[in-house]
Amino acid sequence: MPNPTAVAPLAKAPNHVAIIMDGNGRWAQARGRPRLFGHHAGARRVREVVEAAAGLGIRYLTIFAFSTENWKRTQVEVAGLMNLFRRYILHETRSLVENDVRVRFIGDRVKLDQKLIELMDELETLTETNDGIHLTIAINYGGRDEVARATKLLAEDVAAGKLAPADVDEETLPRYLDTRVLPDPDLVIRTSGEARISNFLLWQSAYAEYEFIDTLWPDFTAQELETLCQSYASRDRRYGGARA
Ligand code: FPP
Repeated sequence: MPNPTAVAPLAKAPNHVAIIMDGNGRWAQARGRPRLFGHHAGARRVREVVEAAAGLGIRYLTIFAFSTENWKRTQVEVAGLMNLFRRYILHETRSLVENDVRVRFIGDRVKLDQKLIELMDELETLTETNDGIHLTIAINYGGRDEVARATKLLAEDVAAGKLAPADVDEETLPRYLDTRVLPDPDLVIRTSGEARISNFLLWQSAYAEYEFIDTLWPDFTAQELETLCQSYASRDRRYGGARA
């Protein structure tokens, strides 16, 4: 049977792709099913997309799984999502380790369940020597919250005399962000037809290219990722400089 995630490496793949996986609820609704049905379908799509991204030659993939604002959803949906993250880690650990995927989590862990935090820590440790694609999963993540937490840490270093206020610049602050070891995203994709960034990687995406596509996340395919990366390759990124 043909492998739906089989893709060939691209000549010019974006180094870091970040995805806002939106549309699970509408996908479920269109089938007359509860929202969690859509989240489960969305979680299955994550595995395929990680495989496809690695196949295309993308080195870093960051996915938005739960935002600092998502706690506003019903208790049933929030609990279902947390349960889904636990199940994802339990089911996928072996395949992630064997496929050389380096997994990290970003976001504030304080509000998360202790068991989930332990699973996240364990998966990070188990994959820390992996050298394949770097998969970063954002859980209880918000760009503003991240910058506020980073600023707090930076202020603590200033108060402790480890950092002079005069030395704080654009290079300093990112060293305190959750993403401190990651390069900035080159391409940010949002599915489901919404054209907004919803507090995702605010600092890091200052010069990212964006793709807003109509596909609902559970319908997103390896081929669509490939097409978006091909289109990215033809873009002229000038970082504020003049057209050549
Ligand atoms: C947004 O769609 C999606 C989420 C808030 C959850 C994202 C979670 C997954 C894709 C599955 C699990 C992920 C992992 C890493 C296992 P929405 O529910 O807001 O969709 P809607 O706008 O159609 O209602």
